[in-house]
Amino acid sequence: MTTNHPAIDKILISKDTLQKRVQELAKEISQDYKNTCPVFIGVLKGSVMFLADLMKNTAVDHSVDFLCPSSYAGGTKSTGIVRLLLDLRESIEGKDVLLVEDIVDTGLTMNYLLENLRTRRPRSLEICTLLDKSSCRKVSVPIRYRGFEIPNEFVVGYGLDYRELYRNLPYIGVMKPPKAEKNK
Ligand code: IMP
Repeated sequence: MTTNHPAIDKILISKDTLQKRVQELAKEISQDYKNTCPVFIGVLKGSVMFLADLMKNTAVDHSVDFLCPSSYAGGTKSTGIVRLLLDLRESIEGKDVLLVEDIVDTGLTMNYLLENLRTRRPRSLEICTLLDKSSCRKVSVPIRYRGFEIPNEFVVGYGLDYRELYRNLPYIGVMKPPKAEKNK
């Protein structure tokens, strides 16, 4: 699928396909958490669109909190260094926690977040990621809910960015090679 956006090479996952899959995930989550009141933890900033659509389609009552890790410093390559820029507002002790992420790539960010959150003694802790680039994995990560497996390409849209841009695109697109990084 093509697009006339100058920064996008091709559309990898269309708006309709995204919406349909998010509805399926929300149905599965609603079933699995039906007698509980989970807390959805959105991993900022990339998960915002996915989280909002997931919440709208989830039938069980749930609360929401946010975490903001940083590792990519605005580029397309993982540095492997994870820092927490924003922490949760509420305690998760004894709660059923669903970590909602845009994409698991090397797995370093998720691995760090899981280790960090486990020390806070949640009752359960599961991962829901929209995208999975499993071919890039450096540490194994137990993903409970996965939207799409994607190839090793840098993607933007539906919350995902390149240098803070393109989060607003309603689809997942593959970027044209960034000009500034071509000769590096
Ligand atoms: P990981 O630590 O390598 O698994 O990377 C996780 C984070 O890197 C994600 O939450 C994204 O913010 C970012 N990331 C990884 N791959 C992409 C991509 O293809 N497009 C945009 N952001 C990405």
